[in-house]
Amino acid sequence: MTTAGKVIKCKAAVAWEPEKPLTMEEIEVAPPQAHEVRLKVVATGVCHSDYYVLYEDIRDYAFPCVLGHEGAGIVESVGPGVTRFKPGDKVIPLFASQCGECLLCLSDRTNQCVKNWTLADKDMKSKSRFTCKGKVIIQFMGTSTFSEYTVVPEVALAKIPDSAPLDKVCLLGCGISTGYGAAINSAKVQPGSTCAVFGLGAVGLAAVMGCQAAGASRIIAVDINEDKSSKAKEFGATDFVNPKDYKKPIQEVLMEMTDGGVDFSLECAGNVDVMRSALESTRRAWGVSVIVGWVAIKDVSTKPVDLICGRTWKGSSFGGWKSVQSIPKLVSDYMEKKIKLDEFITHMMPLEKVNEAFDLMVAGKSIRTVLTM
Ligand code: APR
Ligand code: ZN
Ligand code: ZN
Repeated sequence: MTTAGKVIKCKAAVAWEPEKPLTMEEIEVAPPQAHEVRLKVVATGVCHSDYYVLYEDIRDYAFPCVLGHEGAGIVESVGPGVTRFKPGDKVIPLFASQCGECLLCLSDRTNQCVKNWTLADKDMKSKSRFTCKGKVIIQFMGTSTFSEYTVVPEVALAKIPDSAPLDKVCLLGCGISTGYGAAINSAKVQPGSTCAVFGLGAVGLAAVMGCQAAGASRIIAVDINEDKSSKAKEFGATDFVNPKDYKKPIQEVLMEMTDGGVDFSLECAGNVDVMRSALESTRRAWGVSVIVGWVAIKDVSTKPVDLICGRTWKGSSFGGWKSVQSIPKLVSDYMEKKIKLDEFITHMMPLEKVNEAFDLMVAGKSIRTVLTM
């Protein structure tokens, strides 16, 4: 019996309020409206940003919500006007949209799109297709992949080949694309260069992978968790440095190790002090430092002279990829073994264990946990 056009009742992990564990609920998912697609989520990664909005950057108006933005699934039904998707298609929902028509989409200078989901959007409730116990449940990042079914705008959905394993390629929905692209597209790492990557979660390890793919000859991986050393080397790091092993600031350590600073640095820890260290670890004359970790409520600072001398400080969102057109290419790169995905997955568990996945992440014991429905 077809479910198209009907409300679907399914399970989801709901965040009723900040700083509380998610609870499993039966939610109602409305049919897709014009230019929207409803999909069955098959697998989803757990990213630090999900934890960040629940425990670190608290905005009461963003609750109750369903978190999750690193999923992959299968189209269940499409709303009026949708022509690029049909039921049965394998897809990756995207928090970074690509409408293809706006000023930003038409420019090759950015991967931003005016339709991008944002936490600052005060209209989040009207865009949600979820309800539970009589309340509208906000769709976090527009994606809400911690649910068996979700609805997304067609401009925030990438079609991928039928042969793609959803429990692996889901990671391209955020972390891996973000880190890998930050090195390649945003830093534009050059062959033969020296790089430093701060923070070795999935995002940072993917940045290491990007530096290696771009031909960097030295990649210094930096993390306060010693256990990340061997994994970093598996992904292409040549050196591992633990800031806790030194009395002086880590930027001074890197300056000495590289005789004046690295060419490129990437901050993948989501910490404003680390962002400053990453900038100040680069060579004064031409260093490029890219902020990848997501922080929305704190300021970041440095001395202007540290930029005046010639450094560039920039940010990168979703690895600089124009999402809809790039995801299928990244999936092919994985299928052709040009990029790693399996190696990031340290844990697999059912959606019901999502809080356990958060615990493993903050304890530094997992790289990525993939939840299946
Ligand atoms: N110096 C170096 N590394 C640090 C520091 C520090 N001061 N503080 C934390 N780290 C390391 C952690 O030990 C961990 O290995 O940063 C890593 C972060 O990894 P995860 O928590 O697994 O996060 P990830 O999902 O990779 O996301 C990284 O990108 O999308 C954003 O919000 C996300 O800010 C987060 C960042
Ligand atoms: Zn993420
Ligand atoms: Zn656009």
